[in-house]
Amino acid sequence: MGERRIRLLVTGASGLLGINLCLDAVADFEVTGVVNSRRLAGAPFPQIQVDFTQPGSAAKIIEDICPQWVVHCAALADLDACEKNPDLSTRLNAHLPGEVAEACRKVGARLAHISTDAVFDGERGGYSEEDQPNPQSVYARDKWLGEQAVLQANPQAIVARVNFYGWSLLGQRSLAEKFFYTLSAGRGMMGFTDVYFCPLVNRHLAHILLEMLEKGLEGLYHVFSRECQSKYAFGVALARRFGLDAGLIRPVSVQEAGLSARRSPNLTMRVDKIEAALGHPMPGQEEELEAFYRLYQEGYPQRLRTMVAVE
Ligand SMILES: NC(=O)c1ccc[n+]([C@@H]2O[C@H](COP(=O)([O-])OP(=O)(O)OC[C@H]3O[C@@H](n4cnc5c(N)ncnc54)[C@H](OP(=O)(O)O)[C@@H]3O)[C@@H](O)[C@H]2O)c1
Repeated sequence: MGERRIRLLVTGASGLLGINLCLDAVADFEVTGVVNSRRLAGAPFPQIQVDFTQPGSAAKIIEDICPQWVVHCAALADLDACEKNPDLSTRLNAHLPGEVAEACRKVGARLAHISTDAVFDGERGGYSEEDQPNPQSVYARDKWLGEQAVLQANPQAIVARVNFYGWSLLGQRSLAEKFFYTLSAGRGMMGFTDVYFCPLVNRHLAHILLEMLEKGLEGLYHVFSRECQSKYAFGVALARRFGLDAGLIRPVSVQEAGLSARRSPNLTMRVDKIEAALGHPMPGQEEELEAFYRLYQEGYPQRLRTMVAVE
């Protein structure tokens, strides 16, 4: 008889992080994915369709499935949508995480809750877990409230502040996809020269989150690449790797973009704590871009596209 596999519940399983996490984990874990509006076609794992705006819905799923590990990716993760619909943001980003954390504590499940670098105002950069957040948008405010609710309800939970890119279900969810598809069509786009970030590729982030759960880590962690760059430099590097015209990227200040939610400019992050806890360095930007490119060569974006359910 083989060993029983760990029951892993992933919320937001149709999202940019969740779907990649599920596909990555399915070989080694008994994965269940929770989706809301986008049911997946032909997913190699069972999925449940639930609307988490309904109070008690998350607790019910967790009690029914009784998972050993939960990665909570579901959120309203579009900054401008949060400005337009602050009540929905508060429900999903601030209140829901606490409910998930409480339910996990009750059934004895280990939880990794996903938060964001955007909790910082981005004035100084070089942020560690000790630094005080200063959210600048509805999304950032609610994500910070969500972090606090998780750790209050369940101090054993992991709160992972992240930033990531990668291939998504509809090909529209990450900045890297936006650069890739826009430049591939020969169209120009802006690249912010004054917004800095340290993203991981979602597939690597998925691995690292599972490694954190495996190691039994607890509390707040910054889970980023050890290298940071401007969004303009990111676009240029991506264009060069894919053989696209980097000259189509117009270097601009974020001030010129007219975005409704304020973006924090300098989100450079320190990763000393996670590197010490895992005993290895976090990946650099070149390694991440190479992984993103390799997935493209393997036809991964097309594979994801086949999972878009036709209604
Ligand atoms: N993307 C980034 O660069 C980034 C950066 C920092 C932090 N984060 C955080 O990372 C996590 C994952 O983000 P993501 O980019 O993967 O998000 P995403 O692509 O926007 O996906 C959001 C997921 O949440 C689900 N969801 C939304 N409303 C729901 C509801 N009412 N009930 C149940 N599920 C619902 C969606 O389901 P349906 O699509 O099926 O409706 C989808 O699976 C979030 O916590 C986000 O705040 C993201």
